[in-house]
Amino acid sequence: MRAVVATGTGGPEVLSVAEVPDVEPGPGEVVLEVAAAGLNRADLLQRQGFYPPPPGTSDVIGMECSGTVAALGEGVVGWEVGQEACALLAGGGYASRVAVPAGQLMPVPDGVDLVTAAALPEVACTVWSNVFMVAGLKPHESLLVHGGAGGIGTFAIQLAHHLGARVLTTGGTPEKLAFCAGLGADVTINYRDEDFVEVVGRETDGGVDVILDNMGAKYLARNVAALATEGRLVIIGMQGGTKAELDIGALLRKRGAVIATTLRARPTAEKAAICGAVVEHVWPLVSQGLVKPVVHGTVPLADVADAHRLMESGDHTGKILLTL
Ligand SMILES: NC(=O)c1ccc[n+]([C@@H]2O[C@H](COP(=O)([O-])OP(=O)(O)OC[C@H]3O[C@@H](n4cnc5c(N)ncnc54)[C@H](OP(=O)(O)O)[C@@H]3O)[C@@H](O)[C@H]2O)c1
Repeated sequence: MRAVVATGTGGPEVLSVAEVPDVEPGPGEVVLEVAAAGLNRADLLQRQGFYPPPPGTSDVIGMECSGTVAALGEGVVGWEVGQEACALLAGGGYASRVAVPAGQLMPVPDGVDLVTAAALPEVACTVWSNVFMVAGLKPHESLLVHGGAGGIGTFAIQLAHHLGARVLTTGGTPEKLAFCAGLGADVTINYRDEDFVEVVGRETDGGVDVILDNMGAKYLARNVAALATEGRLVIIGMQGGTKAELDIGALLRKRGAVIATTLRARPTAEKAAICGAVVEHVWPLVSQGLVKPVVHGTVPLADVADAHRLMESGDHTGKILLTL
């Protein structure tokens, strides 16, 4: 099989494609013949040496893919060789074949082609688990999505909008913000020349109920300031650093919550539960075309370094996919 290998840690140039030994399905695992793999910000960190795969996981980069079932491990029920699926992975997605616990396999939603399906697992599982399962966003509440034009952001806006929440979002250019408005964002904020706390103050009655944050340290104080009473701040990214001071007094007065999570490190059983919930609650909206995977473009696996450069440039809107 072919897989992306790294000559060390560093820039995109450390990545190339090579022949590697075939993967075999372990007990409870399924092997997929990969059609496409989604890029994630964490892949850039892993390439740089800052985000090692969890113990026992493939050291090939890649946290999501789509493909065709090629082999079943012992004890797998409910899947057959030849079926199409997409999968949430702990690693191994940048390859022609990957082994995945059966619970992290999801059917391809009706109306979505197999390559595009690779854009769904990370965004759907991250947004559903964090915004709805962890933060418990309700239809009458408001959600602030930071980075609304990114892979996660484009999906979060659509899902929250279609489930009845008021959506505010930040983005870096007027074009990206117009795109976010088209996805259902009610209020758009240019993070380069507007203060989101001020805009939230103007546009809401005392703050937002839930914030989905990709920035971490840089936005912590302002996120707490933008929260409503009993608001929930869910931090899923560290694009603005890892260390910041938290004003506990401000949080106490709001009876607020700050939660930080990562999907990749969760136990297999929890990931399977999240995938099951996504298939139950999110796939029907995708099948009806109400929530759409947003794909910026596809790049052949051999050009993986260019795909990483594109994500680093920030010029993309939505997901970047590697095709096999
Ligand atoms: N914890 C988890 O389980 C988990 C799972 C998946 C992803 N994530 C995290 O979620 C984040 C988004 O991932 P992704 O795949 O969607 O990446 P992506 O497509 O590259 O999106 C990155 C986003 O960051 C935005 N951004 C950059 N600077 C910003 C600023 N100062 N204020 C607000 N937004 C800013 C960009 O906005 P513009 O393009 O408009 O400049 C872009 O929308 C990443 O931090 C990733 O690590 C976490």
